[in-house]
Amino acid sequence: MKKEMIVVLDFGGQYNQLIARRVRECNVYCEVHPYSMELDRLKAMNPRGIIFTGGPNSVYGEGAPLCEKELFELGIPILGICYGSQAMAYMLGGTVETAPVSEYGKTEVSVERGAAIFEGVSEQTICWMSHTDYISKAPEGFRVTAHTPVCPVAAMECPERGLYAVQFHPEVMHTREGMKMLSNFVFQICGCSGDWKMGSFVEDTIKSLRKKIGDGKVLCALSGGVDSSVAAVLLSKAIGKQLTCVFVDHGLLRKNEGDEVEAVFGPAGPYELNFIRVNAGERYYKKLAGVTEPEQKRKIIGEEFIRIFEEEARKIGAVDYLVQGTIYPDVIESGLGKSAVIKSHHNVGGLPDVVDFKEIIEPLRLLFKDEVRKAGLELGIPEYLVYRQPFPGPGLGIRIIGEVTAEKVRIVQEADAIYREEIAKAGLDRGLGQYFAALTNMRSVGVMGDYRTYDYAVALRAVNTSDFMTADASELPWKVLAVTANRIVNEVKGVNRVLYDLTSKPPGTVEFE
Ligand code: XMP
Repeated sequence: MKKEMIVVLDFGGQYNQLIARRVRECNVYCEVHPYSMELDRLKAMNPRGIIFTGGPNSVYGEGAPLCEKELFELGIPILGICYGSQAMAYMLGGTVETAPVSEYGKTEVSVERGAAIFEGVSEQTICWMSHTDYISKAPEGFRVTAHTPVCPVAAMECPERGLYAVQFHPEVMHTREGMKMLSNFVFQICGCSGDWKMGSFVEDTIKSLRKKIGDGKVLCALSGGVDSSVAAVLLSKAIGKQLTCVFVDHGLLRKNEGDEVEAVFGPAGPYELNFIRVNAGERYYKKLAGVTEPEQKRKIIGEEFIRIFEEEARKIGAVDYLVQGTIYPDVIESGLGKSAVIKSHHNVGGLPDVVDFKEIIEPLRLLFKDEVRKAGLELGIPEYLVYRQPFPGPGLGIRIIGEVTAEKVRIVQEADAIYREEIAKAGLDRGLGQYFAALTNMRSVGVMGDYRTYDYAVALRAVNTSDFMTADASELPWKVLAVTANRIVNEVKGVNRVLYDLTSKPPGTVEFE
Protein backbone atom coordinates (compact mmCIF):
# COMPACT_ATOMS: atom_id res chain seq x y z
CA MET A 1 0.00 0.00 0.00
CA LYS A 2 1.50 3.26 -1.10
CA LYS A 3 -0.98 5.64 0.44
CA GLU A 4 -0.07 7.96 3.28
CA MET A 5 -1.26 6.61 6.55
CA ILE A 6 -1.27 7.49 10.23
CA VAL A 7 -1.67 4.69 12.75
CA VAL A 8 -3.43 5.33 16.04
CA LEU A 9 -2.25 2.97 18.77
CA ASP A 10 -5.05 2.31 21.19
CA PHE A 11 -4.18 2.34 24.90
CA GLY A 12 -7.81 1.92 25.95
CA GLY A 13 -9.04 5.50 25.65
CA GLN A 14 -12.59 6.45 24.86
CA TYR A 15 -11.63 8.67 21.99
CA ASN A 16 -9.46 6.37 19.90
CA GLN A 17 -11.80 6.23 16.92
CA LEU A 18 -12.41 9.94 17.21
CA ILE A 19 -8.69 10.61 16.81
CA ALA A 20 -8.65 8.46 13.66
CA ARG A 21 -11.61 10.30 12.33
CA ARG A 22 -10.00 13.70 12.94
CA VAL A 23 -6.94 12.56 10.99
CA ARG A 24 -9.18 11.41 8.15
CA GLU A 25 -10.78 14.85 8.27
CA CYS A 26 -7.31 16.09 7.29
CA ASN A 27 -7.62 13.83 4.24
CA VAL A 28 -5.04 11.43 5.53
CA TYR A 29 -5.96 7.78 5.89
CA CYS A 30 -5.93 6.51 9.46
CA GLU A 31 -6.57 3.24 11.26
CA VAL A 32 -6.73 2.29 14.92
CA HIS A 33 -4.73 -0.72 16.13
CA PRO A 34 -4.01 -2.16 19.56
CA TYR A 35 -0.98 -0.69 21.37
CA SER A 36 0.46 -4.21 21.48
CA MET A 37 0.45 -4.80 17.73
CA GLU A 38 3.56 -6.49 16.42
CA LEU A 39 6.27 -4.12 15.40
CA ASP A 40 6.81 -5.89 12.09
CA ARG A 41 3.16 -5.48 11.14
CA LEU A 42 3.30 -1.84 12.07
CA LYS A 43 6.47 -1.30 10.06
CA ALA A 44 4.95 -3.08 7.08
CA MET A 45 2.14 -0.51 7.08
CA ASN A 46 4.76 2.15 6.60
CA PRO A 47 2.89 4.84 8.54
CA ARG A 48 3.91 8.47 8.22
CA GLY A 49 3.14 8.98 11.88
CA ILE A 50 1.83 7.27 15.00
CA ILE A 51 -0.54 8.60 17.64
CA PHE A 52 -0.81 7.09 21.12
CA THR A 53 -4.30 7.43 22.57
CA GLY A 54 -5.30 8.15 26.13
CA GLY A 55 -6.39 5.38 28.44
CA PRO A 56 -7.73 4.75 31.93
CA ASN A 57 -4.50 3.33 33.40
CA SER A 58 -1.65 4.75 35.38
CA VAL A 59 1.79 3.88 34.00
CA TYR A 60 2.69 2.50 37.42
CA GLY A 61 -0.46 0.40 37.70
CA GLU A 62 -0.32 -3.38 37.45
CA GLY A 63 -0.47 -4.51 33.84
CA ALA A 64 -0.31 -0.94 32.56
CA PRO A 65 -0.26 -1.01 28.77
CA LEU A 66 3.14 -0.03 27.39
CA CYS A 67 4.35 -0.31 23.83
CA GLU A 68 7.66 -1.77 22.73
CA LYS A 69 10.51 0.63 23.37
CA GLU A 70 11.90 0.07 19.90
CA LEU A 71 8.95 2.01 18.56
CA PHE A 72 10.64 5.23 19.61
CA GLU A 73 13.68 4.37 17.52
CA LEU A 74 11.93 3.78 14.18
CA GLY A 75 12.24 7.37 13.09
CA ILE A 76 8.45 7.60 12.66
CA PRO A 77 7.01 10.72 14.34
CA ILE A 78 4.89 9.92 17.38
CA LEU A 79 2.30 12.05 19.16
CA GLY A 80 1.29 10.89 22.63
CA ILE A 81 -2.08 12.03 23.95
CA CYS A 82 -3.02 11.98 27.66
CA TYR A 83 -2.08 8.49 28.92
CA GLY A 84 -0.11 8.11 25.69
CA SER A 85 1.97 11.15 26.65
CA GLN A 86 2.58 9.74 30.11
CA ALA A 87 3.60 6.36 28.67
CA MET A 88 6.06 8.12 26.38
CA ALA A 89 7.52 10.17 29.25
CA TYR A 90 7.75 7.19 31.59
CA MET A 91 9.38 4.86 29.07
CA LEU A 92 11.96 7.47 28.07
CA GLY A 93 13.07 8.29 31.59
CA GLY A 94 10.80 11.18 32.60
CA THR A 95 8.74 11.22 35.77
CA VAL A 96 5.02 10.57 35.96
CA GLU A 97 3.18 11.15 39.25
CA THR A 98 -0.27 11.46 40.67
CA ALA A 99 -1.08 15.12 40.21
CA PRO A 100 -1.77 17.05 43.43
CA VAL A 101 -4.78 18.51 41.61
CA SER A 102 -6.58 16.47 38.93
CA GLU A 103 -7.66 18.50 35.96
CA TYR A 104 -10.95 17.78 34.31
CA GLY A 105 -12.76 19.81 31.71
CA LYS A 106 -11.98 22.96 29.78
CA THR A 107 -8.66 24.33 30.93
CA GLU A 108 -6.62 27.30 29.85
CA VAL A 109 -3.22 26.13 28.61
CA SER A 110 -0.20 28.38 28.00
CA VAL A 111 1.80 27.25 24.98
CA GLU A 112 5.37 28.06 24.01
CA ARG A 113 6.14 29.85 20.77
CA GLY A 114 8.14 27.81 18.32
CA ALA A 115 6.65 24.45 19.34
CA ALA A 116 5.80 22.48 16.22
CA ILE A 117 2.43 21.21 17.43
CA PHE A 118 1.35 24.73 18.38
CA GLU A 119 2.25 26.49 15.14
CA GLY A 120 -0.48 29.07 14.55
CA VAL A 121 -2.19 28.30 17.90
CA SER A 122 -2.97 31.11 20.38
CA GLU A 123 -0.54 31.47 23.29
CA GLN A 124 -3.40 30.95 25.74
CA THR A 125 -5.74 28.29 24.43
CA ILE A 126 -8.64 26.31 25.86
CA CYS A 127 -7.99 22.57 25.95
CA TRP A 128 -9.91 19.59 27.29
CA MET A 129 -8.12 17.94 30.22
CA SER A 130 -9.01 14.68 31.89
CA HIS A 131 -6.25 13.27 34.06
CA THR A 132 -5.21 12.31 37.56
CA ASP A 133 -1.58 11.48 36.77
CA TYR A 134 0.70 13.95 35.06
CA ILE A 135 4.23 14.24 33.76
CA SER A 136 6.12 16.07 36.50
CA LYS A 137 9.44 15.94 34.66
CA ALA A 138 9.97 15.56 30.94
CA PRO A 139 12.57 12.98 29.80
CA GLU A 140 16.04 14.19 28.96
CA GLY A 141 16.27 15.84 25.57
CA PHE A 142 12.62 16.99 25.68
CA ARG A 143 11.50 20.59 25.85
CA VAL A 144 8.33 21.52 27.73
CA THR A 145 6.05 23.29 25.28
CA ALA A 146 2.92 23.97 27.32
CA HIS A 147 1.76 24.19 30.92
CA THR A 148 -1.22 25.12 33.05
CA PRO A 149 -1.16 26.58 36.58
CA VAL A 150 -1.29 23.03 37.99
CA CYS A 151 0.25 20.94 35.21
CA PRO A 152 3.93 21.63 34.61
CA VAL A 153 4.18 19.54 31.43
CA ALA A 154 0.94 20.00 29.49
CA ALA A 155 2.95 19.33 26.33
CA MET A 156 6.53 18.40 25.43
CA GLU A 157 8.57 17.72 22.33
CA CYS A 158 11.84 16.29 21.13
CA PRO A 159 11.85 17.22 17.44
CA GLU A 160 15.24 15.57 16.86
CA ARG A 161 13.61 12.20 17.57
CA GLY A 162 10.21 13.15 16.17
CA LEU A 163 8.50 12.76 19.53
CA TYR A 164 5.63 14.96 20.71
CA ALA A 165 3.17 14.71 23.57
CA VAL A 166 0.16 16.56 24.92
CA GLN A 167 -1.57 15.94 28.22
CA PHE A 168 -4.94 17.17 26.96
CA HIS A 169 -7.21 15.83 24.22
CA PRO A 170 -6.79 17.71 20.93
CA GLU A 171 -9.33 15.41 19.25
CA VAL A 172 -12.40 16.58 21.19
CA MET A 173 -14.35 19.65 20.16
CA HIS A 174 -13.82 21.32 23.54
CA THR A 175 -10.16 21.79 22.66
CA ARG A 176 -10.74 24.87 20.58
CA GLU A 177 -7.63 24.68 18.45
CA GLY A 178 -7.29 20.90 18.61
CA MET A 179 -7.79 20.41 14.88
CA LYS A 180 -4.99 22.89 14.21
CA MET A 181 -2.69 20.93 16.53
CA LEU A 182 -3.54 17.60 14.91
CA SER A 183 -3.12 19.00 11.45
CA ASN A 184 0.26 20.43 12.49
CA PHE A 185 1.27 16.93 13.48
CA VAL A 186 -0.09 15.32 10.35
CA PHE A 187 1.20 17.88 7.82
CA GLN A 188 4.15 19.77 9.31
CA ILE A 189 5.64 17.00 11.38
CA CYS A 190 4.71 13.82 9.49
CA GLY A 191 4.90 15.53 6.10
CA CYS A 192 1.62 14.16 4.80
CA SER A 193 0.14 15.81 1.73
CA GLY A 194 -3.52 15.06 2.50
CA ASP A 195 -4.48 13.46 -0.78
CA TRP A 196 -6.79 10.84 0.67
CA LYS A 197 -10.51 11.19 0.03
CA MET A 198 -13.56 9.11 0.74
CA GLY A 199 -13.43 8.32 -2.98
CA SER A 200 -10.02 6.74 -2.44
CA PHE A 201 -11.42 4.69 0.40
CA VAL A 202 -14.17 3.47 -1.86
CA GLU A 203 -11.79 2.66 -4.72
CA ASP A 204 -9.20 0.97 -2.51
CA THR A 205 -11.86 -1.05 -0.73
CA ILE A 206 -13.37 -2.24 -3.99
CA LYS A 207 -9.94 -3.31 -5.23
CA SER A 208 -9.00 -5.13 -2.08
CA LEU A 209 -12.40 -6.83 -1.83
CA ARG A 210 -12.02 -8.08 -5.39
CA LYS A 211 -8.60 -9.46 -4.60
CA LYS A 212 -9.68 -11.09 -1.38
CA ILE A 213 -12.89 -12.68 -2.63
CA GLY A 214 -11.63 -13.91 -5.99
CA ASP A 215 -14.47 -15.93 -7.45
CA GLY A 216 -16.03 -16.74 -4.07
CA LYS A 217 -19.72 -16.39 -3.24
CA VAL A 218 -20.85 -13.65 -0.88
CA LEU A 219 -24.06 -13.25 1.06
CA CYS A 220 -25.37 -10.01 2.53
CA ALA A 221 -28.28 -9.44 4.88
CA LEU A 222 -29.71 -6.22 3.52
CA SER A 223 -32.08 -4.17 5.64
CA GLY A 224 -32.27 -1.08 3.47
CA GLY A 225 -30.62 0.93 6.26
CA VAL A 226 -27.62 3.09 5.42
CA ASP A 227 -24.92 0.75 6.65
CA SER A 228 -26.02 -2.47 5.02
CA SER A 229 -26.90 -0.60 1.81
CA VAL A 230 -23.46 0.97 1.53
CA ALA A 231 -21.79 -2.34 2.32
CA ALA A 232 -23.91 -4.10 -0.31
CA VAL A 233 -23.15 -1.55 -3.01
CA LEU A 234 -19.43 -1.66 -2.27
CA LEU A 235 -19.52 -5.41 -2.66
CA SER A 236 -21.63 -5.30 -5.75
CA LYS A 237 -19.17 -2.90 -7.40
CA ALA A 238 -16.39 -5.26 -6.46
CA ILE A 239 -17.86 -8.62 -7.41
CA GLY A 240 -21.21 -8.07 -9.16
CA LYS A 241 -23.25 -11.22 -9.45
CA GLN A 242 -21.15 -13.16 -6.97
CA LEU A 243 -23.07 -11.23 -4.33
CA THR A 244 -26.51 -12.22 -3.16
CA CYS A 245 -28.49 -9.88 -0.94
CA VAL A 246 -31.26 -11.27 1.19
CA PHE A 247 -33.83 -8.69 2.19
CA VAL A 248 -36.38 -9.91 4.68
CA ASP A 249 -39.56 -7.87 4.54
CA HIS A 250 -41.01 -8.78 7.90
CA GLY A 251 -44.18 -6.82 7.37
CA LEU A 252 -42.99 -4.36 10.02
CA LEU A 253 -41.34 -1.87 7.69
CA ARG A 254 -42.42 1.70 7.10
CA LYS A 255 -44.94 2.44 4.38
CA ASN A 256 -43.60 1.50 0.93
CA GLU A 257 -40.20 0.72 2.39
CA GLY A 258 -40.00 -2.81 1.02
CA ASP A 259 -40.71 -1.58 -2.50
CA GLU A 260 -38.24 1.28 -2.15
CA VAL A 261 -35.47 -1.11 -1.16
CA GLU A 262 -36.40 -3.43 -3.99
CA ALA A 263 -36.43 -0.56 -6.49
CA VAL A 264 -32.82 0.23 -5.64
CA PHE A 265 -31.37 -3.24 -5.13
CA GLY A 266 -33.73 -5.44 -7.13
CA PRO A 267 -33.48 -6.38 -10.82
CA ALA A 268 -34.85 -3.00 -11.96
CA GLY A 269 -32.22 -1.11 -9.96
CA PRO A 270 -28.78 0.00 -11.08
CA TYR A 271 -26.77 -2.70 -9.30
CA GLU A 272 -25.84 -6.06 -10.65
CA LEU A 273 -26.50 -8.30 -7.76
CA ASN A 274 -28.71 -11.19 -6.95
CA PHE A 275 -31.50 -9.83 -4.83
CA ILE A 276 -33.86 -12.00 -2.86
CA ARG A 277 -36.83 -10.37 -1.20
CA VAL A 278 -38.61 -12.56 1.25
CA ASN A 279 -42.11 -11.34 1.98
CA ALA A 280 -42.62 -12.71 5.43
CA GLY A 281 -45.30 -10.40 6.81
CA GLU A 282 -47.97 -13.09 7.23
CA ARG A 283 -45.48 -15.42 8.86
CA TYR A 284 -44.51 -12.70 11.33
CA TYR A 285 -48.06 -11.70 12.18
CA LYS A 286 -48.88 -15.33 12.92
CA LYS A 287 -45.89 -15.68 15.23
CA LEU A 288 -46.70 -12.41 16.96
CA ALA A 289 -50.42 -13.07 17.44
CA GLY A 290 -51.41 -12.65 21.06
CA VAL A 291 -47.90 -11.62 22.19
CA THR A 292 -47.80 -8.39 24.19
CA GLU A 293 -44.59 -8.53 26.20
CA PRO A 294 -41.97 -6.26 24.51
CA GLU A 295 -38.94 -8.49 25.04
CA GLN A 296 -40.81 -11.53 23.81
CA LYS A 297 -41.85 -9.63 20.72
CA ARG A 298 -38.26 -8.60 20.03
CA LYS A 299 -37.07 -12.18 20.49
CA ILE A 300 -39.68 -13.57 18.13
CA ILE A 301 -38.85 -11.00 15.47
CA GLY A 302 -35.09 -11.64 15.76
CA GLU A 303 -35.45 -15.41 15.83
CA GLU A 304 -37.70 -15.46 12.78
CA PHE A 305 -35.22 -13.31 10.89
CA ILE A 306 -32.54 -15.87 11.59
CA ARG A 307 -34.73 -18.76 10.47
CA ILE A 308 -35.60 -17.04 7.21
CA PHE A 309 -32.04 -16.04 6.53
CA GLU A 310 -30.96 -19.60 7.24
CA GLU A 311 -33.52 -21.01 4.84
CA GLU A 312 -32.41 -18.68 2.08
CA ALA A 313 -28.73 -19.30 2.74
CA ARG A 314 -29.31 -23.05 2.46
CA LYS A 315 -31.04 -22.60 -0.88
CA ILE A 316 -28.06 -20.63 -2.18
CA GLY A 317 -25.61 -23.29 -1.05
CA ALA A 318 -21.99 -22.99 0.04
CA VAL A 319 -21.26 -19.34 0.69
CA ASP A 320 -17.68 -18.23 1.18
CA TYR A 321 -18.23 -14.88 2.83
CA LEU A 322 -20.90 -13.07 4.77
CA VAL A 323 -21.03 -9.26 4.54
CA GLN A 324 -22.09 -7.05 7.37
CA GLY A 325 -22.44 -3.31 7.54
CA THR A 326 -20.81 -3.06 10.96
CA ILE A 327 -19.35 0.40 11.46
CA TYR A 328 -16.43 1.63 13.55
CA PRO A 329 -15.97 -0.93 16.27
CA ASP A 330 -12.21 -1.09 16.55
CA VAL A 331 -10.23 -3.20 14.17
CA ILE A 332 -8.49 -5.13 16.93
CA GLU A 333 -10.20 -8.40 16.03
CA SER A 334 -10.54 -7.65 12.39
CA GLY A 335 -9.30 -11.06 11.33
CA LEU A 336 -10.97 -14.34 11.95
CA GLY A 337 -10.99 -14.12 15.72
CA LYS A 338 -13.92 -15.50 17.61
CA SER A 339 -14.80 -12.25 19.26
CA ALA A 340 -15.04 -10.50 15.91
CA VAL A 341 -17.60 -13.06 14.85
CA ILE A 342 -19.60 -12.59 18.01
CA LYS A 343 -19.54 -8.85 17.66
CA SER A 344 -20.60 -9.01 14.04
CA HIS A 345 -23.42 -11.40 14.75
CA HIS A 346 -24.60 -9.08 17.42
CA ASN A 347 -24.81 -6.30 14.88
CA VAL A 348 -27.62 -7.87 12.94
CA GLY A 349 -29.33 -9.42 15.90
CA GLY A 350 -27.56 -12.76 15.70
CA LEU A 351 -27.03 -14.35 12.33
CA PRO A 352 -27.07 -18.13 12.28
CA ASP A 353 -23.89 -20.03 12.94
CA VAL A 354 -24.98 -22.86 10.69
CA VAL A 355 -24.58 -20.77 7.56
CA ASP A 356 -21.61 -22.23 5.84
CA PHE A 357 -19.23 -19.32 5.39
CA LYS A 358 -15.50 -18.93 5.77
CA GLU A 359 -15.33 -15.40 6.99
CA ILE A 360 -17.25 -12.26 7.76
CA ILE A 361 -16.44 -9.16 5.73
CA GLU A 362 -17.07 -5.79 7.35
CA PRO A 363 -15.91 -3.19 4.85
CA LEU A 364 -17.15 -0.22 6.89
CA ARG A 365 -15.71 -1.18 10.20
CA LEU A 366 -13.40 1.81 10.30
CA LEU A 367 -15.95 4.45 9.54
CA PHE A 368 -18.24 6.72 11.52
CA LYS A 369 -21.84 7.12 10.46
CA ASP A 370 -21.30 10.38 8.60
CA GLU A 371 -18.28 8.86 6.86
CA VAL A 372 -20.44 5.92 5.81
CA ARG A 373 -22.88 8.44 4.36
CA LYS A 374 -20.06 10.11 2.42
CA ALA A 375 -18.99 6.73 1.10
CA GLY A 376 -22.62 6.06 0.11
CA LEU A 377 -22.77 9.28 -1.88
CA GLU A 378 -19.45 8.42 -3.56
CA LEU A 379 -21.01 5.14 -4.58
CA GLY A 380 -23.95 6.92 -6.13
CA ILE A 381 -26.55 5.62 -3.68
CA PRO A 382 -29.64 7.87 -3.77
CA GLU A 383 -29.61 10.64 -1.16
CA TYR A 384 -32.89 9.59 0.37
CA LEU A 385 -31.32 6.24 1.23
CA VAL A 386 -28.04 7.72 2.38
CA TYR A 387 -29.67 10.22 4.73
CA ARG A 388 -32.23 7.84 6.06
CA GLN A 389 -32.88 8.09 9.75
CA PRO A 390 -32.07 5.00 11.79
CA PHE A 391 -34.77 2.35 11.84
CA PRO A 392 -34.65 -0.46 14.38
CA GLY A 393 -34.30 -4.06 13.23
CA PRO A 394 -37.58 -5.11 14.90
CA GLY A 395 -39.23 -2.28 12.97
CA LEU A 396 -42.78 -1.25 13.71
CA GLY A 397 -43.04 -4.24 16.00
CA ILE A 398 -41.59 -2.07 18.78
CA ARG A 399 -43.60 0.99 17.74
CA ILE A 400 -46.91 -0.79 18.27
CA ILE A 401 -47.53 -1.13 21.95
CA GLY A 402 -49.02 -4.49 22.81
CA GLU A 403 -50.09 -7.08 20.28
CA VAL A 404 -49.01 -6.61 16.67
CA THR A 405 -51.66 -7.15 14.02
CA ALA A 406 -51.79 -6.39 10.32
CA GLU A 407 -54.42 -3.73 11.02
CA LYS A 408 -52.26 -1.97 13.61
CA VAL A 409 -49.30 -2.09 11.23
CA ARG A 410 -51.44 -0.37 8.62
CA ILE A 411 -52.44 2.36 11.09
CA VAL A 412 -48.92 3.12 12.22
CA GLN A 413 -47.55 2.99 8.67
CA GLU A 414 -50.12 5.51 7.45
CA ALA A 415 -49.66 7.83 10.43
CA ASP A 416 -45.88 7.65 10.18
CA ALA A 417 -45.92 8.39 6.45
CA ILE A 418 -47.99 11.53 7.05
CA TYR A 419 -45.69 12.65 9.86
CA ARG A 420 -42.59 12.14 7.72
CA GLU A 421 -44.16 13.96 4.84
CA GLU A 422 -44.99 17.00 7.01
CA ILE A 423 -41.54 17.03 8.58
CA ALA A 424 -39.96 16.97 5.12
CA LYS A 425 -42.29 19.69 3.86
CA ALA A 426 -41.19 21.88 6.76
CA GLY A 427 -37.56 21.20 5.80
CA LEU A 428 -36.80 19.59 9.15
CA ASP A 429 -35.90 16.10 7.96
CA ARG A 430 -32.10 16.47 7.94
CA GLY A 431 -31.82 18.27 11.25
CA LEU A 432 -33.62 15.81 13.50
CA GLY A 433 -32.04 12.76 15.07
CA GLN A 434 -35.02 10.47 14.71
CA TYR A 435 -38.75 10.96 14.37
CA PHE A 436 -41.62 8.56 13.94
CA ALA A 437 -45.18 7.73 14.82
CA ALA A 438 -46.03 4.95 17.24
CA LEU A 439 -49.33 3.34 18.05
CA THR A 440 -50.29 3.43 21.69
CA ASN A 441 -52.45 0.67 23.04
CA MET A 442 -54.93 3.23 24.28
CA ARG A 443 -58.33 3.84 22.82
CA SER A 444 -60.40 6.82 23.80
CA VAL A 445 -63.66 8.53 23.01
CA GLY A 446 -63.94 11.16 20.32
CA VAL A 447 -66.55 12.70 18.11
CA MET A 448 -66.53 12.81 14.36
CA GLY A 449 -69.43 14.40 12.50
CA ASP A 450 -72.35 13.49 14.69
CA TYR A 451 -70.88 10.17 15.72
CA ARG A 452 -69.09 8.95 18.78
CA THR A 453 -65.76 7.29 18.02
CA TYR A 454 -63.72 4.96 20.16
CA ASP A 455 -60.36 4.71 18.47
CA TYR A 456 -56.61 4.51 18.95
CA ALA A 457 -54.26 7.30 19.95
CA VAL A 458 -51.13 7.74 17.86
CA ALA A 459 -48.03 9.10 19.57
CA LEU A 460 -45.57 11.25 17.66
CA ARG A 461 -41.95 11.27 18.71
CA ALA A 462 -39.00 13.36 17.58
CA VAL A 463 -35.65 13.41 19.33
CA ASN A 464 -32.39 15.24 19.03
CA THR A 465 -29.40 13.14 19.89
CA SER A 466 -25.79 12.76 18.93
CA ASP A 467 -25.19 9.23 20.12
CA PHE A 468 -28.63 7.73 20.88
CA MET A 469 -27.46 7.01 24.42
CA THR A 470 -29.15 10.18 25.55
CA ALA A 471 -31.77 12.16 23.70
CA ASP A 472 -34.03 15.16 24.13
CA ALA A 473 -37.49 15.61 22.76
CA SER A 474 -37.29 18.03 19.83
CA GLU A 475 -39.18 21.29 20.05
CA LEU A 476 -41.07 20.88 16.81
CA PRO A 477 -42.96 23.89 15.49
CA TRP A 478 -46.53 23.82 16.73
CA LYS A 479 -47.81 24.29 13.21
CA VAL A 480 -46.10 21.16 11.94
CA LEU A 481 -47.51 19.16 14.84
CA ALA A 482 -50.99 20.61 14.38
CA VAL A 483 -51.10 19.90 10.64
CA THR A 484 -49.76 16.39 11.18
CA ALA A 485 -52.27 15.64 13.95
CA ASN A 486 -55.12 16.98 11.88
CA ARG A 487 -54.15 14.94 8.85
CA ILE A 488 -53.66 11.73 10.83
CA VAL A 489 -57.05 11.96 12.49
CA ASN A 490 -58.74 12.74 9.20
CA GLU A 491 -56.86 10.37 6.93
CA VAL A 492 -56.04 7.34 9.03
CA LYS A 493 -58.99 5.15 9.83
CA GLY A 494 -58.96 3.90 13.41
CA VAL A 495 -57.24 6.94 14.95
CA ASN A 496 -59.08 9.73 16.78
CA ARG A 497 -56.33 11.25 18.93
CA VAL A 498 -52.69 12.29 18.45
CA LEU A 499 -50.21 12.83 21.29
CA TYR A 500 -46.67 14.24 21.27
CA ASP A 501 -44.06 12.52 23.42
CA LEU A 502 -42.02 15.01 25.45
CA THR A 503 -39.91 12.49 27.32
CA SER A 504 -36.15 12.66 27.12
CA LYS A 505 -33.82 9.66 27.35
CA PRO A 506 -33.17 8.85 30.13
CA PRO A 507 -35.61 8.24 31.73
CA GLY A 508 -37.48 7.31 28.53
CA THR A 509 -35.98 5.46 25.57
CA VAL A 510 -36.20 6.53 21.96
CA GLU A 511 -38.41 3.61 20.96
CA PHE A 512 -41.52 2.69 22.91
CA GLU A 513 -40.68 -0.94 23.57
P1 XMP B 1 -33.68 3.16 22.41
O1 XMP B 1 -35.14 2.83 22.24
O2 XMP B 1 -32.90 2.01 22.99
O3 XMP B 1 -33.12 3.39 20.93
O4 XMP B 1 -33.46 4.43 23.16
C1 XMP B 1 -31.85 3.91 20.65
C2 XMP B 1 -31.60 3.76 19.17
O5 XMP B 1 -31.49 2.37 18.84
C3 XMP B 1 -32.47 1.99 17.90
N1 XMP B 1 -32.92 0.65 18.27
C4 XMP B 1 -32.62 -0.48 17.61
N2 XMP B 1 -31.90 -0.67 16.49
N3 XMP B 1 -32.29 -3.01 16.65
C5 XMP B 1 -31.77 -1.94 16.00
O6 XMP B 1 -31.16 -2.14 14.94
C6 XMP B 1 -33.01 -2.89 17.79
O7 XMP B 1 -33.47 -3.87 18.35
C7 XMP B 1 -33.18 -1.55 18.28
N4 XMP B 1 -33.84 -1.06 19.36
C8 XMP B 1 -33.66 0.31 19.34
C9 XMP B 1 -33.54 3.04 17.99
O8 XMP B 1 -34.29 3.16 16.79
C10 XMP B 1 -32.72 4.28 18.29
O9 XMP B 1 -32.14 4.79 17.11
